Amino acid sequence: MKNVTIFDHPLIHHKISILRDVNTASKEFRELIEEIATLMGYESLRDLPVHEVEITTPITTTKVKMLAGKKLAIVPILRAGLGMVNGLLALVPSARVGHIGLYRDHDTLEPHEYYCKLPEDVDQRQVILLDPMLATGGSASAAINFIKQRGCSNIKLMSIIAAPEGLDRLCKEHPDVSVYIGCLDEKLNEHGYIVPGLGDAGDRIFGTK
Ligand code: PRP
Ligand code: URA
Repeated sequence: MKNVTIFDHPLIHHKISILRDVNTASKEFRELIEEIATLMGYESLRDLPVHEVEITTPITTTKVKMLAGKKLAIVPILRAGLGMVNGLLALVPSARVGHIGLYRDHDTLEPHEYYCKLPEDVDQRQVILLDPMLATGGSASAAINFIKQRGCSNIKLMSIIAAPEGLDRLCKEHPDVSVYIGCLDEKLNEHGYIVPGLGDAGDRIFGTK
């Protein structure tokens, strides 16, 4: 799968292992989601375009590399994607932030949209879509469809944990999207939860259960 990166980094593995633990409370869970997003983001953004700019140091004038083009658009899928936003903003503080609200129907597992607000010129930006969980892939695929309908062609998806089913679906439906995964888990259970997974990411971030 040429557009898929599965991280193999001890810091990311260690932090995801703490996330999975049922005894990890919301405060630590939120902090870890943010830290993992920063670690994954650092690597996922290594192909950002740069251009040469002339500056003057206290010693001399020199040409240096600076980020080129429009600012990024960071787009979390609500709710759980919100937990990753500050982790990315720590790297690219001037990025624009859009939001896509989707919830998964508990019985059908189909995603339902309830909110979509993207930067006006999102089609001219590199979009980083954030959702810690890629389960059936329905939510991420629907969110990518919204973004593509707005004319975007440069899209990356970052998910902390993925099930093989969701990753396969995404590769089939959106082979042009680059996907970055913190850990590829074993499977989905009969309720559409990732196994071993970490449970319901939104509930654990916001303490709603
Ligand atoms: C979770 C998660 C993803 C989605 C993944 O959100 O944050 O968006 O499920 O599942 P899928 O790959 O099968 O679509 P959920 O629908 O529980 O909404 P919430 O974040 O508001 O709790
Ligand atoms: N959404 C979650 O938050 N967790 C899962 O395991 C699957 C979907």
